[in-house]
Amino acid sequence: MVSINSLLRPGLEDLEPYEPVRPLDVIARELGIATDDLAKLDANENLYGPIPAVREAAANADLHIYPDPAQVRLREAIGDYLSISPDSVVAGAGSDELLDLLFRAVAPERVVTTPPTFGMYRFLAGISGCEVVEVMRGEGFELDEPGIAAAVRDGANLVFVTSPNNPTGNLTTNETVASLCKLPALIVVDEAYAEFAGKTAVGLVESNENLVVLRTFSKWAALAGLRVGYAVCAPSLQANLMAMKQPYNVNAAADAAACAAIEHREEVFVTVRALVDERDRMVRELSRFEWLVPHPSQANFVLFRVLGHDVGRVADDLRRRGVLVRTYSRPELQGYLRISAGRRQDTERLLAALEESAG
Ligand SMILES: Cc1ncc(COP(=O)(O)O)c(C=O)c1O
Repeated sequence: MVSINSLLRPGLEDLEPYEPVRPLDVIARELGIATDDLAKLDANENLYGPIPAVREAAANADLHIYPDPAQVRLREAIGDYLSISPDSVVAGAGSDELLDLLFRAVAPERVVTTPPTFGMYRFLAGISGCEVVEVMRGEGFELDEPGIAAAVRDGANLVFVTSPNNPTGNLTTNETVASLCKLPALIVVDEAYAEFAGKTAVGLVESNENLVVLRTFSKWAALAGLRVGYAVCAPSLQANLMAMKQPYNVNAAADAAACAAIEHREEVFVTVRALVDERDRMVRELSRFEWLVPHPSQANFVLFRVLGHDVGRVADDLRRRGVLVRTYSRPELQGYLRISAGRRQDTERLLAALEESAG
């Protein structure tokens, strides 16, 4: 009998899996709690959900014909939203797909990540079989610019910077991005949470051919389930990415919903501002638990350092009470919890669960 492993790429069995969040209904069933009674504060989603006009656009999308492979309407809408040319935009099935495309476009031997950060870069590097150079962030989670420059000197040609960073919540300034762009590497600034910070490096793309800014509709527009994100980059790279992508990568419902989110952005931004306010209220309310030390955040989540308590036990206690928060297996994130900002009722559930489990 032919062994299947002999047919597969070497090293496939050693892949480090991505740690995804688990489906809400599965967790609800396990806990014996209705899904509506869970406070899902573990994946930085917008718990207000899409506004009615966006839901309606998705519901009315033409599902029997293929979506537009050239993404004309969507790229024009994004161009209008960011005051850029649609020729610098390529959309995908979530920004995750654009990350995957970038790996395939560059085919790097070595990439730079800046932990603690989003795990997808390392996961995709594993799949592409390239070496990961981890340039650790400093005490305040700021980037180690000289460390990144040294890694590029040593042969890395793809650099991932997340701003605001997940899970630490801090921004990288445009000054730092501009200085990184002087390096001979493709600099990818992942701005999945930019709408919560109101800051962006998109304006630097025109003068830096080696800069790609990634954005998504998953967070601010509450469309994580539909999968739609995009890259902003030089038109020459955009043309290559458009040529490489799967033709129908953004499905018809996602395309329609994303266009509607942009058209009705003032209404969507009401929920973005509400999440930012609730993040700040959560931090104020949690200050009564002195063992939870927040790191300042510009995103829709907060990283807390947990003092004198076992993080796994805290998260389990919360979970049993229907409150889901994020913990990590990575060594640099031991002793930390990340809690997403939710609606007022989600914060109230979190507070009640913490009071109960402390009591
Ligand atoms: C920094 C960062 N980039 C990208 C993503 C994925 O975004 P998308 O849903 O558009 O694939 C996430 C999701 O958690 C994220 O935190």
